[in-house]
Amino acid sequence: MKDFKQQRPFCDINVAADFILSGGIGGVPTETVYGLACDATNESAVRKIFSAKGRPFIDPLIVHVCDMEMAESVAHFSDDAKKLAEKFWAGPLTMILPKKDCIGDIVTAGFDTVAVRMPSHPMMLELIRKSGKPISAPSANPFGYVSPTTAEHVREQLGDKIDFIVDGGECKCGVESTIVMMTSTPKKLLRPGPISAQEIESVLGEELDKTPKKNEAHPQAPGMLKSHYSPKSRLTLFENPEEIPSSFSGEIIFFKRPENPQSNHYWLSENGNPQESARNLFALLRKLDKISQNGFYCQKAPNTDIGVAINDRLARAETKFDK
Ligand code: TXA
Ligand code: MG
Repeated sequence: MKDFKQQRPFCDINVAADFILSGGIGGVPTETVYGLACDATNESAVRKIFSAKGRPFIDPLIVHVCDMEMAESVAHFSDDAKKLAEKFWAGPLTMILPKKDCIGDIVTAGFDTVAVRMPSHPMMLELIRKSGKPISAPSANPFGYVSPTTAEHVREQLGDKIDFIVDGGECKCGVESTIVMMTSTPKKLLRPGPISAQEIESVLGEELDKTPKKNEAHPQAPGMLKSHYSPKSRLTLFENPEEIPSSFSGEIIFFKRPENPQSNHYWLSENGNPQESARNLFALLRKLDKISQNGFYCQKAPNTDIGVAINDRLARAETKFDK
């Protein structure tokens, strides 16, 4: 009995599928970050997600599907959308597309578009297949905090508010999916992620609008709000270590392992590998957020490929304290 209690709310996929079918909500692994999942067609379950996260209803959710048949049951796919799906799914790309009726206003915040993605994590795909339902899942963190990349992160922050957690190990990408608005002209990059804008442009044969949103009173993706993904301790970014005041004795995160690391030094990757850095980013921010007394510094990534997504998340985490 004691063991069972300690295990709760971790469970296998069959139990998780039963929870989904009966209107429950729970933490699920994807290749990007952990999601907080429920049946996207069940309005009261979707409401529970907003309440567990403390997320405003104006912020729409991504609907996760396991195959093209399910994808086309929730949204209208243009030829370009089909091309991107063919190339990047299953994988970390979310497309904003015209929605179909089975997806309610609660999921899309009243927009006539829906965010759709086919994740590649085998356990998430199996869960969607077993439940037979499209699954809406925002990242499984309290609204505004950094996303979880392990099942334990989900348990720590939301364990007492949710029905179950499926442990699928550490997330492979470590930052949230790339989001592209397919319904605007030109098509627009709403959130940089593991798939670069250039990769998408080369499949489409056209340029995306990559300018960050200016009008933040009506953000198309609140994940694009300036202060988001924030740790609670003060985070300051730097490019060159000489920018750090010599009097600073707190924690410093380097992009790669420094030559002579000191006890207050941490690093996102051993050799400056951007994928490894992305994978470690949120876990390291969480760790330092717990131990840091006087705030900490973090070095920006080289601004190409997934480095663009890393710098985007870091910039949002830092901004909170500029206000
Ligand atoms: O990698 C990911 O995308 C993760 C995993 C769990 O799949 N999910 C995730 O969800 O990051 P969330 O809710 O934390 O971020 C989704 C973003 C939000 O900023 C939301 O505003 C935007 O997608 N979004 C959803 N539907 C939209 C729509 N119809 N139009 C514009 N933006 C939308
Ligand atoms: Mg999120």
